[in-house]
Amino acid sequence: MTRSSLLTPLTESRVWRSFFRHGLPDNPLDRSLVMTTNIFFHLHPVKVSRPSLRWSYSFGLGIISAILFALLVWSGLLLMFYYAPTIERAYPTMKDIQMTVPLGQFTRNMHRWAAHAMVLAVILHMARVFYTGAFKPPREFNWIVGVVLLLLTLGASFTGYLLPWDQLAYWAITVGTNIASYAPVAGPMMRELLLGGTEVGQNSLLRFYTLHVAILPLLIGLLVSLHIWRVRKDGGLAARRNSEVK
Ligand code: HEM
Repeated sequence: MTRSSLLTPLTESRVWRSFFRHGLPDNPLDRSLVMTTNIFFHLHPVKVSRPSLRWSYSFGLGIISAILFALLVWSGLLLMFYYAPTIERAYPTMKDIQMTVPLGQFTRNMHRWAAHAMVLAVILHMARVFYTGAFKPPREFNWIVGVVLLLLTLGASFTGYLLPWDQLAYWAITVGTNIASYAPVAGPMMRELLLGGTEVGQNSLLRFYTLHVAILPLLIGLLVSLHIWRVRKDGGLAARRNSEVK
């Protein structure tokens, strides 16, 4: 008696069927059902090319970027319990987080390092996509979504820089927004819009805070969902030409 014929009564039982809506994946139909009835597997298309599944094809850089984003949202939420976005309290509350809040130093470092790592991971992911030619049709739209994600990631990193309200933050934002003001036509307006005035002050801190904790993460979250959904709809990662479809 074969293994699958021994297991058949089990896979046809009501208990099995209430958990898994398919039999053993030993035929094309059940293999497809395994993918479409599982919330995690469902992120992949039913059929993907074998070479694109190799670790060295993508180095998991897209997924690493998404995980780092989730870590940033989580650690950022914890920091929000203590941080106050006013010019009198921002620096002292940041120091409190580092020195008195239980696990505060750890949470702050996690947020900082994950932010640096996300910028690096997104840039490396973009380079991987470019070198494997994965921006070509039908993936051009996802490439554009990716470019917007890169800009939003850099925006989140830049706006977070001002929040500790120390000398480094103050001068980095002064220099950064001055550079932005040299952009043709819209430059000076962009600087004033970002700073909420003509110089770095309370209005700027509040604007950078709102962008950093609400607007940019929301946009990144929405676009990452669209980006990953698009990967699935485009048939998984770009396959090499003539690669076998399994
Ligand atoms: C927040 C930033 C980003 C996240 C979380 C993200 C996430 C992902 C994930 C999970 C995948 C599938 C797995 C993988 O390729 O590792 C993917 C694929 C892809 N990403 Fe991104 N990505 C981001 C930024 C970018 C950027 C900056 C670009 C390019 C400008 C880009 C373009 C693409 C394209 C074209 C694909 C399809 C690749 C293929 O079919 O081989 N993404 N992304």
